[in-house]
Amino acid sequence: MNQNCALPKDVILKDNSTGVNFDLSRITNFTPFPRGKIIFGGYFGDEGKGKEVDITADQYKKSGYKVLSIRGQGSGNAGHTVKVNGIKYDFHYLTSAGLSADIMLLGPGMLIDPIRILEESQKLPEEKRNIIFIAERATIVTNGDRAMDEWCENARKNTGQKAIGTTKSGVGPGAGTRGFRFHVTFADALKCCDTADLKNLFLKNPVYPDDVKAVLTDTYIEELWSAIHQLNIVDSITVVNNCRKEGNWAVLLEVSQAVLLDPLFGNEGHFTTSTPCTNVGGIVGSGLTIHDFPDGSVMVLKSYGSKVGGGPYITKFLPEETHIDSFIDHMVGEHGVTTGRKRDLGWFDAPAVRYSLSLTGADICINCMDVIVALAKEIDAVKICFAYKNIKNGKITYEWPYYVSDYEPLYIELPIKGKTEKQIIQDYILLIEYIIGKEIHSYGTGPSREDYHLRKDAF
Ligand code: GDP
Ligand code: IMO
Ligand code: MG
Repeated sequence: MNQNCALPKDVILKDNSTGVNFDLSRITNFTPFPRGKIIFGGYFGDEGKGKEVDITADQYKKSGYKVLSIRGQGSGNAGHTVKVNGIKYDFHYLTSAGLSADIMLLGPGMLIDPIRILEESQKLPEEKRNIIFIAERATIVTNGDRAMDEWCENARKNTGQKAIGTTKSGVGPGAGTRGFRFHVTFADALKCCDTADLKNLFLKNPVYPDDVKAVLTDTYIEELWSAIHQLNIVDSITVVNNCRKEGNWAVLLEVSQAVLLDPLFGNEGHFTTSTPCTNVGGIVGSGLTIHDFPDGSVMVLKSYGSKVGGGPYITKFLPEETHIDSFIDHMVGEHGVTTGRKRDLGWFDAPAVRYSLSLTGADICINCMDVIVALAKEIDAVKICFAYKNIKNGKITYEWPYYVSDYEPLYIELPIKGKTEKQIIQDYILLIEYIIGKEIHSYGTGPSREDYHLRKDAF
């Protein structure tokens, strides 16, 4: 109990019918986490957030803190890669801090397929499986939502619209059902007495057509029931409060997807994902507060751009630059971790980054600087998009426009041939800093923990 909080002198906290006094001295006041950071993506996803989360969790551990690693949005549409001691780990529902975390908490804002998360956790050693907790308020995603995802994509095509190119993880329909208030939470599922009861919860959804709901067979529902009852489902707010109370926990919020996929701020309004993905948006479904992050937030970028799925991508490499695309793909492996789709690649897009920065104000980490260095053996100069030109009226803008497909990119060239590795990294970072108007905080030169550098230590 906070020393400054006192009961008015003439008030006695007691149950008048029994005469028993209440003792509120053990109720803890709100005390924010002493350390905390948010990691999110500043482009179209796959910037190396997973790597940054793993590195930050490791740093917190080495500073003597226990790590509460938490997610509050997204679903299995996320695919994060972590490489430690030469071993590569993929995470989809689970947090990328899995190797260091003391608790992995999947918050109320997440949309979770119980069968798939169970499969993902079973790949981890038992002691790690026991630290995975799912918020009772999180929404359940089923094969019905995945069928609906496909149904919506087909409906778009059949009505002359462009497909979004979703990951088909069911996250969009799941989030939509939440909007309609016909979603099923883990708490709802645990209240069911049997599988018939559980099936009814999903069948009550009047929004999905019957042919979509037909995939919810009795056998599938039995599998779902079994998975739900093998998971650690908790009141996530109490888990967070218990960590706050102990006082020696650092919290690490991992935001999947990225700012340009955000449902409000993303690409032409529709070619987006369905849950918020800015730094502040990531807090919403986690149950944490804006006061829990004294270490701020990091916006992760790559030294070039990548994008999967539909929608405009104006700095995409041109057909005559296919050799650059292939070179990078060969070096990094630019295929989606979730869907295996080849990512479109392109030049660094400064107006987009300025836009993401203006929405988030975060520190910036740029991964894949090794790629720019390696490109020096192949090409004379690299390009950075610094502005856009309107295709119809020739007007130039330095901002990210809503209809970005009405524009073409304007590039500045940076010569790299013949420069040393250090010169290339320094010049590339200085040029980006000049164009976006903010100093870069850190950069990566490879997929592993040891390939991380603070800009202030480097030059
Ligand atoms: P996330 O979704 O943001 O977590 O990113 P992904 O894991 O989906 O994709 C990023 C890819 O870039 C992965 O294959 C990483 O191993 C790789 N990567 C991250 N940082 C670097 C880096 O500095 N250099 C190289 N060469 N690869 C990197
Ligand atoms: P991470 O966390 C890259 C894209 C899809 C599609 C759009 C909507 O690994 O960076 P959805 O399935 O979410 O309804 O698809 O968003 N998308 C991603 N692209 N990385 C991701 O996650 C993505 N998650 C969704 O390709 O264009
Ligand atoms: Mg990814």
